[in-house]
Amino acid sequence: MISTIPGDLLGVLRSARHVVVLTGAGFSAESGVPTFREAQTGLWARFRPEELATPEAFARHPREVWDWYAWRRVLVAKARPHAGHRALVELARRVPTLTLITQNVDGLHQRSGCREVIELHGNLTRVRCAGTCGTSPLPESPDTLPPPCPCCGQPLRPDVVWFGESLPADALAQAWQAAGACDLLFSIGTSTLVYPAAALPEVALDAGASVVEVNPDETPLSRRATWCLRGKAASVLPLLLERTWAQEKGKPLQSDDD
Ligand code: OAD
Repeated sequence: MISTIPGDLLGVLRSARHVVVLTGAGFSAESGVPTFREAQTGLWARFRPEELATPEAFARHPREVWDWYAWRRVLVAKARPHAGHRALVELARRVPTLTLITQNVDGLHQRSGCREVIELHGNLTRVRCAGTCGTSPLPESPDTLPPPCPCCGQPLRPDVVWFGESLPADALAQAWQAAGACDLLFSIGTSTLVYPAAALPEVALDAGASVVEVNPDETPLSRRATWCLRGKAASVLPLLLERTWAQEKGKPLQSDDD
């Protein structure tokens, strides 16, 4: 467990004008949402997520893919934001501009109180038409699964980005712009293996920003990151905030019990 934060990072964070935070599945791990590339449990242990998260898989096995996302929806509904989520809400209050970009589809950042979140891979609590009708309310007890789109009758699907699909253009453009304009980027809980999201820390570094990786394990980014904080999001982030701003009077930090 990490107990110290590099002193030069504290100074850079204190004076940062624009901070970007990129989060991945590891950020939600301590809320009880399994990551992608660590051991899967239960019913789905024998599947590789990539085999379920493609348009081809949905076309071949719509019921199985629907059920997998229904299972994840239940898991996410039971999950609660942790101290790391709350630390990001606090960080947004402390720095002039914070852009939060997530690859997660669980909505936990929003549930923790983050108002603006750039969702690169969609959100599994939403569904949309497999054709072109757009998003639709999730039917409560449909007769068939996947339920049909109320407009055109094609199946509804989770509103997430699958392998082989393009990311939402607006979200990607905003994320790219923020990464190129920030002075400090945090890459937290992501293996930085899946592009284009994995390129965002590189965009920031190439534009002259500093990059902090928060992850218990090494990733391909570790070599280039300015600082690597080896630990878990729920403990590293509150510690980072406490060390950075603890001495400020009149601005109490939120406690884990809030
Ligand atoms: P991965 O499952 O690839 O990586 C999770 C990372 O989080 C790993 O590097 C872990 O070491 C780290 N980690 C685990 N627990 C942590 C903790 N408590 N605190 C901090 N870090 C922790 O997840 P992503 O990088 O998010 O895409 O995967 C990227 C994309 O690949 C996903 O959005 C998904 C997936 O396939 C799509 O579905 C399109």
